[in-house]
Amino acid sequence: MNQPVTSRQAAQAPDYVRHQRLIDWVARMAALTQPKAIYWCDGSQQEYDRLCQQLVDAGTFKKLDPVKRPNSFLACSDPSDVARVEDRTFICSKTRDAAGPTNHWMEPAEMRAILETSDKALFKGAMRGRTMYVVPFSMGPLGSPIAHIGVELSDSPYVAVNMRTMTRMGKAALEVLGEDGEFVPCMHTVGKPLAEGEQDVAWPCNNTKYIVHYPETREIWSYGSGYGGNALLGKKCFALRIASTMGKDQGWLAEHMLILGVTNPAGKKYHVAAAFPSACGKTNFAMLIPPKELGNWKVTTIGDDIAWIKPGADGRLYAINPEAGYFGVAPGTNEQTNPNCMASLDHSVIFTNVALTDDGDVWWEGMTDTPPAHVIDWQGKDWTPEIAKQTGAKAAHPNARFTVSAINNPALDDAWDDARGVAIDAFIFGGRRSTTVPLVTEARNWVEGVYMAATMGSETTAAAAGQQGVVRRDPFAMLPFMGYNMSDYFQHWLNLGARLQKQGATLPRIYCVNWFRKGADGKFVWPGYGDNARVLKWMLERVDGTGQGVENIFGTSPRYDDLSWDGLPFSREQFASVIGIDKAAWQQELKLHDDLFAQLAQRLPTELKDTKARLAERLATV
Ligand code: GTP
Ligand code: SPV
Ligand code: MN
Repeated sequence: MNQPVTSRQAAQAPDYVRHQRLIDWVARMAALTQPKAIYWCDGSQQEYDRLCQQLVDAGTFKKLDPVKRPNSFLACSDPSDVARVEDRTFICSKTRDAAGPTNHWMEPAEMRAILETSDKALFKGAMRGRTMYVVPFSMGPLGSPIAHIGVELSDSPYVAVNMRTMTRMGKAALEVLGEDGEFVPCMHTVGKPLAEGEQDVAWPCNNTKYIVHYPETREIWSYGSGYGGNALLGKKCFALRIASTMGKDQGWLAEHMLILGVTNPAGKKYHVAAAFPSACGKTNFAMLIPPKELGNWKVTTIGDDIAWIKPGADGRLYAINPEAGYFGVAPGTNEQTNPNCMASLDHSVIFTNVALTDDGDVWWEGMTDTPPAHVIDWQGKDWTPEIAKQTGAKAAHPNARFTVSAINNPALDDAWDDARGVAIDAFIFGGRRSTTVPLVTEARNWVEGVYMAATMGSETTAAAAGQQGVVRRDPFAMLPFMGYNMSDYFQHWLNLGARLQKQGATLPRIYCVNWFRKGADGKFVWPGYGDNARVLKWMLERVDGTGQGVENIFGTSPRYDDLSWDGLPFSREQFASVIGIDKAAWQQELKLHDDLFAQLAQRLPTELKDTKARLAERLATV
């Protein structure tokens, strides 16, 4: 006769776990997914080392040369599982309107049938033959009033070790949770149960994928992928899609933004938050080293991908980085363009989908001018520069990434872990546009800034599965990350600004940038990277009231002589080609704004429609 089993026994919860609701949930999820074992992560270094060794033994990880790249590993994914899957991402709010026209929506009960409740529900038995890892984590400093706790249940040890770097993970997060704290349940399976005696593969996953959010009940269910934002559920799923919904309800913002500190030569410190779409330069901007000829400007990193922003009692907007590590794009990163990043990658890194060199190190396109004579590419094949020339094969996947702790970053800001956050002086929005959009424009006011952000376009990148280089509207760089109706989100930004202004607060200035305009030769005209500090300097001079510029149709932009050019040969003609506003191109662009507004018409704030009308009028008169 079977003994009656308590939920603590069923969940295999260690004695130190005191949260009954959590234990009950783990027991229920184990009954649903049928793992062969349950392991509660404590977040210790020993545990991390043990799981990494286990991943080496399983063939998922290769250990890199301990001298060249101490404590570091390379994972290569299944070629079908290399990026976020936006068309498999769902916002399952009670009504379609709540999710809005830019999100994939399904009625919650219908989705639950597919995932949990029907006879053939995908999560039923999905973890057979595998260990279920219980991964408690804090988004934000442990115990801080602005942090939120999540618990991810995953059958991927790769996810468990990545979550340790990307979040404050383990026992300490459980302590914060206590006996009755709130947590966001995050269910994750790679969707590849193992039959008795079945040999596992190095990167288990499933062709069927679902990345599902229930905003009202604050739940995440992810099926079929082991990669990045599909699987590390604290990041885009929680810290953006679920958190944006929490922010709407509670009066704050969850944004796809880096946060940086900037200290000017006089020692005055500013804070800037910038939203660029995926693979459009956030990590690089967050770590930039200003050219020395600019004077003694210094940039320090608070965050490189996500900002949670709350109004303080003084009416200013305070931002924290909810993450603890960087999951950054490897290709294009090198000693010239991002030395701080290269230094961060010195040791204790998990690389995914880069190439393995013959001496046990890593390489990716753009890392060095001269490629190595031979590497093993991300798909395990021989790769040489000759093969690349003939076949176009990439050594690293274009969305190859590194996972590294923030504390590896030599430019880390002292306040990066400060629960109070930093007061934001300027917001920057920028897309990847080879034409049309000028290098930098300052919005005349909050509403016009919100309009700029709302109508931003960008060329698609390898960060998401699908066609690349296609211009699409990506409002606030949040198109793939919004947890609710995009129109309501615009209204939320407008309301927040209006409320703070009523309190007499000075709102952050809003800027729109584009580092990616191309010349007739198809090359970027603007040097970018460290030289972006020239634009940053101008913005902060504007914030201080000293920077000069000239008003155009959309706002204020610098003239050639308003920027500092010391140390950079950049002609007036080149500048004209990155700052210019082409009337015909902008008439086309405004049609694309119209298309977006038509899509969002039902709940679109009238202020934005009015702004559009005013801008169209101004454009017509030039
Ligand atoms: P996610 O992690 O996907 O959100 O990306 P991200 O916004 O952090 O982008 P990241 O800084 O990793 O840059 C992505 C790619 O753009 C890399 O290949 C960079 O080398 C390139 N890049 C970044 N900044 C610049 C720039 O100022 N100019 C040019 N031309 N390329 C840049
Ligand atoms: C992005 O795509 O914006 C990323 C990478 O930061 S992922 O974590 O996969 O979402
Ligand atoms: Mn991102």
